[in-house]
Amino acid sequence: MQPEVVDLDAQATTALAPEALAAMLPWLESRHWNPHSAHRGGRQAKAALEAARVQVAALLGAAPEGLIFTSGATEANNLALKGVLAEAEGPRRRLVTFVTEHSCVLETARHLERLGVPVSILPVRADGLPDLAQVAEALGPDVALLSAMRVNNEIGAIWPTARLAALARKAGALFHCDAAQGFGKIDCRLGSGLEADLVSLSGHKMHGPKGIGALWVRPGLRLAALLDGGGQEGGLRSGTQSPALAAGFGAAAVLAAGRMDADHDRLKAMMPIALSRLHAVPHRINGPDPEGAERWPGNLSVTFPGVDAGRVIAALPGIALSSGAACSSGAGRPSHVLAALGLEPAAVRQTVRLGWTARMSEDELEMALDALVAAVRRLGGAR
Ligand SMILES: Cc1ncc(COP(=O)(O)O)c(C=O)c1O
Repeated sequence: MQPEVVDLDAQATTALAPEALAAMLPWLESRHWNPHSAHRGGRQAKAALEAARVQVAALLGAAPEGLIFTSGATEANNLALKGVLAEAEGPRRRLVTFVTEHSCVLETARHLERLGVPVSILPVRADGLPDLAQVAEALGPDVALLSAMRVNNEIGAIWPTARLAALARKAGALFHCDAAQGFGKIDCRLGSGLEADLVSLSGHKMHGPKGIGALWVRPGLRLAALLDGGGQEGGLRSGTQSPALAAGFGAAAVLAAGRMDADHDRLKAMMPIALSRLHAVPHRINGPDPEGAERWPGNLSVTFPGVDAGRVIAALPGIALSSGAACSSGAGRPSHVLAALGLEPAAVRQTVRLGWTARMSEDELEMALDALVAAVRRLGGAR
């Protein structure tokens, strides 16, 4: 049976895996206990929470003690940036980040700036990746924290986070990685695919539930909490935890650990199919080479010259696509990522973001792209 809507919006969110749902259900049905309660039910709920913490931390190659459950990567990014900067002492008070970060990092940076924190927002190269020489230059003795993402949510650029972490360490600064789009998809194990002092994660980008994420914090690192209250999550995130959401996130992490390599190979094999379908109409791909090692192979950001992306999306009600990050397109804001790559405002408006997962069949991808190409042609992009 074909799904009602073909999902080409996998960077916005992913479908909940049946395994994740199964892990959640008992905690939504009969076992309604609060993990903070001292009675037997509470202890069971706490055990489920801790088991999920071990599962998520294992995919990160980290000790579970450093993992703080949050409502998602937005909160994790807020906690990382605000928490570190609130504890910054002496001359090291600057935050350095990049113009193509997710809005929850950039808006947090702006918030901190309004509070008097010095902030540097660095540009990126035309392919959306950082200029490492420029980063090294920006990392002076006043920098407390460098923050960069693992995979960009609009253009699929895979960031050289190990090299950025090394530059930060050399300069005596901490490194935070927003791994919302990389975790569960590419190697994000600490000491292997990723080096960082803090890492933000999101459940719903990797077939887990929405409403949960985590911040991993290197043991010993001092961080101020955003929420005060009952002292849950080591005092760093007060508020009743959800065993159901945690169990779903944990199950998704276990699933991802088992499927990651095969899924990646499959997506790499599907990319040429996508590219060949697009050749039927004039277009330009934004970001790194879609068949190269610096791009997540389940993403394409495509500009169709002369064709309004909003009209393309409206013409294809059976396909879920977007013109950029869900949060900015939903708010009607043009993509700051595409603008940072040097696209003119008109070209930004002519760009769609395509994202798919390894769960999509090749037939489905072909059919969706053929429908997209036909719509582009109808709307004025024919050769
Ligand atoms: C790179 C990146 N960071 C952070 C977030 C926010 O994640 P969440 O929805 O879990 O708050 C997203 C989601 O769009 C993202 O793509």
